[in-house]
Amino acid sequence: MSNPITFQNTVKKYGENTVISNLSLQVKSGEFFTLLGPSGCGKTTLLRMVAGFNSIEGGEIRFGDRVINAIPPEKRNIGMVFQNYAIFPHMTVEGNVAFGLKNRKVPKEEISRRVDEILKKVHIDNLRDRLPQNMSGGQQQRVALARAIVIEPDVLLMDEPLSNLDAKLRVEMRDAIREIQHTVGITTIYVTHDQEEALAISDRIGVMYKGVLQHVGTPRDIYLRPANQFVAGFIGKSNFLPVTGSEEGGKKLLRFGEYTMEMQNIVDDAPFNGKFIAAVRPEEFEIHASAPGIKGVVHDCVFLGLTMHYFIELADGMQVETIAPAEIENEIKKGSTVYLTVKPNRINVYTDDGERNMVCGVKNDAYQ
Ligand SMILES: Nc1ncnc2c1ncn2[C@@H]1O[C@H](COP(=O)(O)OP(=O)(O)OP(=O)(O)O)[C@@H](O)[C@H]1O
Ligand SMILES: [Mg+2]
Repeated sequence: MSNPITFQNTVKKYGENTVISNLSLQVKSGEFFTLLGPSGCGKTTLLRMVAGFNSIEGGEIRFGDRVINAIPPEKRNIGMVFQNYAIFPHMTVEGNVAFGLKNRKVPKEEISRRVDEILKKVHIDNLRDRLPQNMSGGQQQRVALARAIVIEPDVLLMDEPLSNLDAKLRVEMRDAIREIQHTVGITTIYVTHDQEEALAISDRIGVMYKGVLQHVGTPRDIYLRPANQFVAGFIGKSNFLPVTGSEEGGKKLLRFGEYTMEMQNIVDDAPFNGKFIAAVRPEEFEIHASAPGIKGVVHDCVFLGLTMHYFIELADGMQVETIAPAEIENEIKKGSTVYLTVKPNRINVYTDDGERNMVCGVKNDAYQ
């Protein structure tokens, strides 16, 4: 079984500039773990520290029990796949995939057997003798993947491997990568800034911002109960509405301007009084023709086949986006006055500084 990867108080500095300040995380044995975050947040930096291409200025990284800080890259037994394939243009598929095994002086017959096996696994065994220039982007990326896993690495690292592919191929390849990773069971760290890709492919995701893990959890945990306002805004779409919380007669009430509703799932360990921010995803609104609800006017609507998106302007001038199933009978015309309610068990409520989700059931492995 493949080793877990442990980061303990890991620090990365470029000169005086600290890019990763104190990062702790355990990627479990055989897990598909994705680092997700905006450009410049430190994803590639962290991956390169695991690979050994970047120095480590503090803390530890371990593969199993082995501290790897001072081990040179070629001795870490890592498989890597990058955005630009990095396969050798003058070598056939077979030559590319066999390369790492030849370097390791694996006997000829075994090389042949392992190359066969891996080409079948990534479904390019019919392209053995082809040169990269005569293959599609997706096929080349399969070669890169085969070359990375044929050496039976302890860990597999992938940095935006799909970003050079067109949208359709990206979806196809992400499914292929997931399936292959599951069959071979290598502990994997995958980097992307595409949140849909991360949700589709990962066992767990670490959402990173400014070199800090904001939320570590399963795709469901992260989408449904984002730990803070940044995560709620980065994963999927959230409308952020200023609200007031109050506790009256044992009930916890949430007030959106004129409209008040009771919340059943607010935590008990902190007072629920004063200003908060409600994060409401477009699908968490319900639209009604009459009160009660948050009053607004339909500013625009967009038909997307399966769904209708309504852009609704609220009394304070704020605009929110809602989604409703598109049905023949239910179109709401531009300019109509509507009343919005929200699904109380679905929405999230953050402290005014955006740091804490006040709703029960947030699961975050980032602070362990
Ligand atoms: N060799 C370097 N020297 C100095 N600063 C660097 C170096 N490499 C990266 N940085 C800085 O470290 C920060 C993190 O960069 P990194 O490449 O890890 O971001 P990223 O999350 O991979 O972004 P992207 O999604 O754009 O690839 C950035 O502010 C970047 O400018
Ligand atoms: Mg990067």
